[in-house]
Amino acid sequence: MSRLALVIAAVVAGSLTGASWTHAGVAPRALPANQLALTPPMGWNSWNHFACNVSEQTIRETADAMVASGMRDAGYRYVVIDDCWQVARDSSGALVADPQRFPHGIKVLADYVHDKGLLFGIYTDAGTNTCQGRPGTLGHEEQDARTFASWGVDYVKEDWCHAPHLDAPTQYAKFRDALTRTGRPIVLSICEWGSNQPWDWAPRVGNLWRTTDDIEDRWPSMLDNLDQSAQHATVAGPGRWNDPDMLEVGNGGMTDDEYRAHFSLWAIMAAPLIAGNDLRDMSAATRATLTNREVIAVDQDSLGAQGILVWESPPELQVWAKPMRDGSRAIALLNRSSAPARITAYFSRAGLKADSAVVRDLWAHEDVGRFSRQFAATVPAHGVILVRATPIGP
Ligand code: GLA
Repeated sequence: MSRLALVIAAVVAGSLTGASWTHAGVAPRALPANQLALTPPMGWNSWNHFACNVSEQTIRETADAMVASGMRDAGYRYVVIDDCWQVARDSSGALVADPQRFPHGIKVLADYVHDKGLLFGIYTDAGTNTCQGRPGTLGHEEQDARTFASWGVDYVKEDWCHAPHLDAPTQYAKFRDALTRTGRPIVLSICEWGSNQPWDWAPRVGNLWRTTDDIEDRWPSMLDNLDQSAQHATVAGPGRWNDPDMLEVGNGGMTDDEYRAHFSLWAIMAAPLIAGNDLRDMSAATRATLTNREVIAVDQDSLGAQGILVWESPPELQVWAKPMRDGSRAIALLNRSSAPARITAYFSRAGLKADSAVVRDLWAHEDVGRFSRQFAATVPAHGVILVRATPIGP
């Protein structure tokens, strides 16, 4: 076991002695062979906002905006082109980018992104074709991995369309091995929508794996993905993350309160924070949500535990908690109903080991005070109050 894994094991063993905290959090496991994504990947992906309307120009401007908006400095790294960049294979079988949309080719674009201090990601599909009918990687695993590495790709999302008779663990492992053989460190993002129980095998194959169907820019869809991904909390940890899909923050289908809840819940789940909006044209509220460093710190905590549901008054009021490396807990009071509601978080249920805690509101950026045994707040409709509770005393 690596040193980091031993440290994690020790910290988790401590948290498990807490009164009612039964979640294993991060079990002591080996890190992934590629040693990447030790905290959940952060970045941007073109799909949720642009779908097939991607181009070199858009990606360059997005990289510029990631820097100018402060997102890079807040931790966002990967700029990922999703489906539709590829049009064909050449006579040697190599993937060819759409010459109209990417006139200078992918390598030049990757260089541009790297020059901004960012990392570059691309999309392919394990089957014969991508979900939008472009060429897939089936039968070209070695070649595509080499092509991507030669372009300077740092992250590959591999989809699962047009792969009906294939065995998912086998196919994804094949591509993982091909990526490994390139010698370039490349994050592997598995995207088979949770359809082959990836939580059972993907931790050995990729760095993140989708647990759900595609997210939609609507409150019920976001909650649905939360609920599904929450089922698999125990398998997440450094280098291996459940992926409830990319963020919709800023795409217009939810209110700002709903987007703050979405972002908070992804942080509590230690989910990848892959923005999916148009970074070139963000409202002040969207930018503030995506760059809230106190919330990002919850997501990126080095313990790498995925938070869990610790209390609920079904079906609409819930408390979620995530153990943090320093012994504190991030606690989300989630109001799924359409009216404001009072919600109480009991410290023992959240796994806190002391009776008293200092509570800090991570959206208001202020310490709320010292509380004994519980903390209660009125939570807006379709909203979250996200706090960090740090135990005091013995
Ligand atoms: C699937 C994936 C999406 C996106 C599209 C692209 O639906 O789940 O995230 O990559 O394909 O076609």
